[in-house]
Amino acid sequence: MMFASYQYFQAFLILSFLLPIFSNAHPCSESFQQETAKKGIVNCKKKTLGAEFGWKYSNYTRKLEILFGAKIDGEVGWLAWGLNPGKEPQMVGTRALIGIKLENSTLSDKYNITRYTKLGCQLLPSEIDLEVHNFSFSQGEATEFYMIHATLVLSSEYNDSSLNIVWQVGNAADGNRPITHPMNIHNFDSKETIDLIYGTVLSVETHKLHRLRKIHGILNIMGWGTLLPLGAIIARYFKKFPFQYPNWFCLHVSCQSLGYTLGTCGWILGMWLGNASNHSTFPTHRTLGIIIFTFTTLQMLALRLKPLRSDDYRVYWNMYHHFLGYSLFAIISVNIFLGISILSTRDHTWKWAYIGLLCLLGLTALLLEIFTWIKFWYIKNKEFFAKLLLLCLSNSNQAQGSTSGSKTVPQPDSCPCLASTSQPNADDEYENVVIKAEVLPVESEIEVGILS
Ligand SMILES: *[C@@H]1O[C@H](CO)[C@@H](O)[C@H](O)[C@H]1NC(C)=O
Ligand SMILES: *[C@@H]1O[C@H](CO)[C@@H](O)[C@H](O)[C@H]1NC(C)=O
Ligand SMILES: *[C@@H]1O[C@H](CO)[C@@H](O)[C@H](O)[C@H]1NC(C)=O
Ligand SMILES: *[C@@H]1O[C@H](CO)[C@@H](O)[C@H](O)[C@H]1NC(C)=O
Ligand SMILES: *[C@@H]1O[C@H](CO)[C@@H](O)[C@H](O)[C@H]1NC(C)=O
Repeated sequence: MMFASYQYFQAFLILSFLLPIFSNAHPCSESFQQETAKKGIVNCKKKTLGAEFGWKYSNYTRKLEILFGAKIDGEVGWLAWGLNPGKEPQMVGTRALIGIKLENSTLSDKYNITRYTKLGCQLLPSEIDLEVHNFSFSQGEATEFYMIHATLVLSSEYNDSSLNIVWQVGNAADGNRPITHPMNIHNFDSKETIDLIYGTVLSVETHKLHRLRKIHGILNIMGWGTLLPLGAIIARYFKKFPFQYPNWFCLHVSCQSLGYTLGTCGWILGMWLGNASNHSTFPTHRTLGIIIFTFTTLQMLALRLKPLRSDDYRVYWNMYHHFLGYSLFAIISVNIFLGISILSTRDHTWKWAYIGLLCLLGLTALLLEIFTWIKFWYIKNKEFFAKLLLLCLSNSNQAQGSTSGSKTVPQPDSCPCLASTSQPNADDEYENVVIKAEVLPVESEIEVGILS
């Protein structure tokens, strides 16, 4: 119990560390605010895809003035902003105002987005069931923003206290035909339902979704990507050889349990996120996530269900446990890279941070592995020389005995976390610390402290 509450305390610490991510202010950038100020527009918020949206609404005249801007990096690109009179904010059914930037000119027109557009049919200008005045598309005077400016008069078809807004940024166009936007997660996030009168967002806010995705990433990178491998390193190198750390089992189980807990929280969040953005499922990431969760759960059950050391198939069980563990690390890192590629477009911070983490873990394991082998050969030779010495000098063993003592193997009961949980297995784990062929390429078992 004590161990469990310690775990939750740790999880709590980590989560409270993450809470600042939940802060909720997204005012527009300085330069975009200058543009809105010129037009007397007061409401302004940052949106996904680097877009910013300013609006002014009068619920008496039902006039909605909008200024929608985003940067277009390439020679060619387009911006779209529209309203959907349907039940939910989505691409199909949107009445869109689209501004297209071509090499030497800009175009702007109205487009009716249908399900054929989604299927890949050409999108051509058409009439839309929306009263639009003073529609223009141009680059701001003092900014890099390209901006759609228009005044709409909302018919009764549009509910001003729950208005479905959809926007998009694309990077290719053929004359007045915008070409399909990139299929990045942010391009699927670009829609929301807002209350024009109070300026509140009624749908799940895309910023919130984005934050939740980051939290999902952090939880899974920490849990599955860091703590689980760390626990495996502890089990492999600190059990008895090359280092004999008395509390290794406690540490191993702590790492795995905390890692599993964080990873599972992240996984649940991930599944929820997958369902929340139903237009953008990422099947590979999702499937790998489910596989990882299933098999890490199996590995965790292994703590309780593993066969006794005396059982014949214990050696096969060990092989299975280790093989599954190493395969899982491979799948986990692939899936983390996949997740990072979904999450971020231009910013490579996450990718490099995770590569750094992988290198750190890999380097640690590699150094410990090299050290294991050096120590192994050293002990082999020491045994040989010691036997020689024993023949000559019967006194020499005293000095050796003080540095390495196999008699002082501590009892696992000294680990508080195990006292109440899995005594029989822990005991058996301790008996099993003699290095087997599975770790080192020798048939014989090594007795550390052979001279004492
Ligand atoms: C406009 O909104 C205000 C609240 O902001 C409300 O008091 C008023 O009745 C609304 N007018 C109409 C015509 O809906
Ligand atoms: C753009 O303008 C330049 C010179 O003004 C011209 O050489 C070029 O062909 C134009 N490009 C297009 C696509 O019209
Ligand atoms: C626009 O498309 C919708 C179907 O998505 C259709 O019902 C509507 O009549 C179209 N509007 C015009 C003006 O063509
Ligand atoms: C369109 O612009 C003109 C001139 O700037 C202005 O007089 C007119 O009121 C605007 N129309 C609407 C619907 O805002
Ligand atoms: C407009 O939306 C609000 C909030 O969803 C709802 O309470 C109201 O009944 C809707 N009005 C109409 C005319 O549909």
